Amino acid sequence: MDLETAGLEYTPEIARRTAPVYERVRDVIPAVEWPVHAPYVAAIQDWKTKRNAVILAHNYQTPEIFHGVADLSGDSLALAQQAVEADAEVIILCGVHFMAETAKILNPDKTVLIPDPEAGCSLASSITGADVRALRERYPGVPVVTYVNTTADVKAETDVCCTSANAVAVVESLGTDRVIFLPDRYLGHYVARHTDVEMILWHGSCEVHERFSAREIRDHRQRYPGLRVIAHPECPGEVLDEADFVGSTSGMIRWVGDEKPPRVMMVTECSMSDNVAVEHPEVDFLRPCNLCPHMKRITLPKILRSLQTLEHHVEVPGDVAVRARRAVQRMLDVGRTEGAGGSRPAMPPMPAVPVPSAGPSGAEGGPGP
Ligand code: 13P
Ligand code: SF4
Repeated sequence: MDLETAGLEYTPEIARRTAPVYERVRDVIPAVEWPVHAPYVAAIQDWKTKRNAVILAHNYQTPEIFHGVADLSGDSLALAQQAVEADAEVIILCGVHFMAETAKILNPDKTVLIPDPEAGCSLASSITGADVRALRERYPGVPVVTYVNTTADVKAETDVCCTSANAVAVVESLGTDRVIFLPDRYLGHYVARHTDVEMILWHGSCEVHERFSAREIRDHRQRYPGLRVIAHPECPGEVLDEADFVGSTSGMIRWVGDEKPPRVMMVTECSMSDNVAVEHPEVDFLRPCNLCPHMKRITLPKILRSLQTLEHHVEVPGDVAVRARRAVQRMLDVGRTEGAGGSRPAMPPMPAVPVPSAGPSGAEGGPGP
């Protein structure tokens, strides 16, 4: 019998059990779709108990996952923090592979599963551990700060990791004049605008956020006077210059809760607006968003299958995990440093940091004089 589909009908009993969930998400999930999701939502709840499992979901997961089956949710930093605190034998990470690896690095004795091991990330695949070693040779003595959107191999070569919720503070925590910052050049430029520390950058980028343009935002502002715009720091600098607020995905969620704007455009992955709209029906969300194809690999049927078969295990070799854990732990020690209520003000208007073309090893060189 196919484990995935056995007994997964939309019966009156399933409708009754899942009604409270549907009540929450009815504005973002059409009624005609609920009979497809509901049997999975109910089965996943049952299997979670059977397996003593906890489901951690990133803010970019679809609403039926985010609001339907997740026990804990948040940005990359929150997921790492919650992975440490998770009181369960099994962690199911609904997000991309580097997030599951981070959970495993922090929980070597727990079973960490990802519903689809192919859920990658263009930033994580832009750099290898060997690249980091080559950069260290090229810039002897300069510490390496690595965005958490990287593989365990890269983290293991790193002095300290950071996320979008604490990148400036992590860079400054090292107390040096210069750092190698990897691999997101846009986040690197954003940090460079908020610190005097010289940044040596890599040429990585997020395939989702790099597609937004300043023109798109200006067009929307013209069409919708009074529109507020908030953006993730993986966007190009010209986009961030147009934003009222720049922050991590959780920082953006908190900003909406604090400001309650009548109309807002979240310049980030598509599911964010759906997930936040559930909490704020009074806010009108414009959705000129981009989909992350990697995040969208995670689906309810794959989560159920993970629980049933205990696949796919995320493993990190012992020596790599030990070195990577040091870098991740230093990041957790810095913690979240987005301003009060998770808010970091939008960057002040400043001249763009030039983006020199990548050198032979891929490094961009510092931000210049
Ligand atoms: P956050 O840490 O802000 O959630 O960002 C992770 C990510 O992958 C954004 O594209
Ligand atoms: Fe990676 Fe971009 Fe997808 Fe985030 S949105 S997981 S940075 S590809």
